[in-house]
Amino acid sequence: MAALLPRATKRLRLSPSTDSVCHGCRRAFASSIRHGQQQQPAPSQHVSQSDKTTHFGFKTVAEELKASRVRTVFSSVAANYDTMNDLMSLGIHRLWKDHFVRSLNPGIRLTSATTSSPQSATGQTILDIAGGTGDIALRMLDHATTINRDNATSVIISDINPEMLAEGRKRFATSPYYSTTTTSPNRRVSFLEANAEDLSAIESNSIDLYTVAFGIRNFTHKQVALQEAFRVLKPGGVFACLEFTPRLSNPIMNGIYKRWSFGAIPLIGQVVAADRESYQYLVESIERFPSQAEFAGMIEDAGFIVPGKERGDGGDLEGGWEDLSLGIAAIHKGVKPA
Ligand SMILES: C[S@@+](CC[C@H](N)C(=O)[O-])C[C@H]1O[C@@H](n2cnc3c(N)ncnc32)[C@H](O)[C@@H]1O
Repeated sequence: MAALLPRATKRLRLSPSTDSVCHGCRRAFASSIRHGQQQQPAPSQHVSQSDKTTHFGFKTVAEELKASRVRTVFSSVAANYDTMNDLMSLGIHRLWKDHFVRSLNPGIRLTSATTSSPQSATGQTILDIAGGTGDIALRMLDHATTINRDNATSVIISDINPEMLAEGRKRFATSPYYSTTTTSPNRRVSFLEANAEDLSAIESNSIDLYTVAFGIRNFTHKQVALQEAFRVLKPGGVFACLEFTPRLSNPIMNGIYKRWSFGAIPLIGQVVAADRESYQYLVESIERFPSQAEFAGMIEDAGFIVPGKERGDGGDLEGGWEDLSLGIAAIHKGVKPA
């Protein structure tokens, strides 16, 4: 058992002086699960009381503390992150990520029409925000290389957390995509430690594809991050987000799923990673994320065209998003107008 609890000393500690637990959230949540229907705890309880507080899971914290709290969580989970993802989602996160990447079809397939274009020589520049251990980036490069035969497309993996990036670096060190020499032609992946809300290290209009998977719900100012995404993308560039949703449309399935996630995930975190609190935060943070329709509206507010939102011919993105596994997760996309 001791071997299963290697990181007890790294548990997240929250200071009682700066956090207030939202009992209303817990009560509303427990009652909604009892009734097979889950309501999101009212955001007004948290945000409108003061401009300077925000939610951290079901807790209320000073706005300027949230990013460091989130950083602490991911520093704590970094070493076990990939294993825990498999355990918590029963491996389903892999299928969602595969589908997400396939739907974006990264890379440029060379045809007689594209061989002479300057972009085909350099490939695409992809920015994977909150890229963590590189799960999405690796899939992007694999897809570009094997499906589109594109050996030039590159990915910048950006994350606020140095420990998560360190896990990503370890993973890529043995892949054909990474070289420690900055001038190497094999350098198709690079790492950038940055807050998604301030991408000043990245030039405006320089990115072809911006991805964020299971990251944006942790950001303090999501709208600011969306505006940064808009700024760094080239005209015609694509924003794509894969994220959990706060509730499933079927109330019975929602009740079952929430019982499982609130019961099992913190427990798995405790047993496998000796870190119940971080995993408790991860499930609570899902509850505080906007609904699919609200999030599509936020993407539009940042200036993007949201495929499928207005017209009835959105295909997989009908309504402005694509639900995965009964709506446990969803894909949203936005296109920067050309
Ligand atoms: C659940 S992990 C997702 C990692 C990866 N995208 C994946 O799908 O496996 C969330 C990541 O978001 C990062 N993150 C949280 N807040 C951030 C912020 N404000 N800016 C950039 N990254 C952030 C965390 O450090 C963490 O690596």
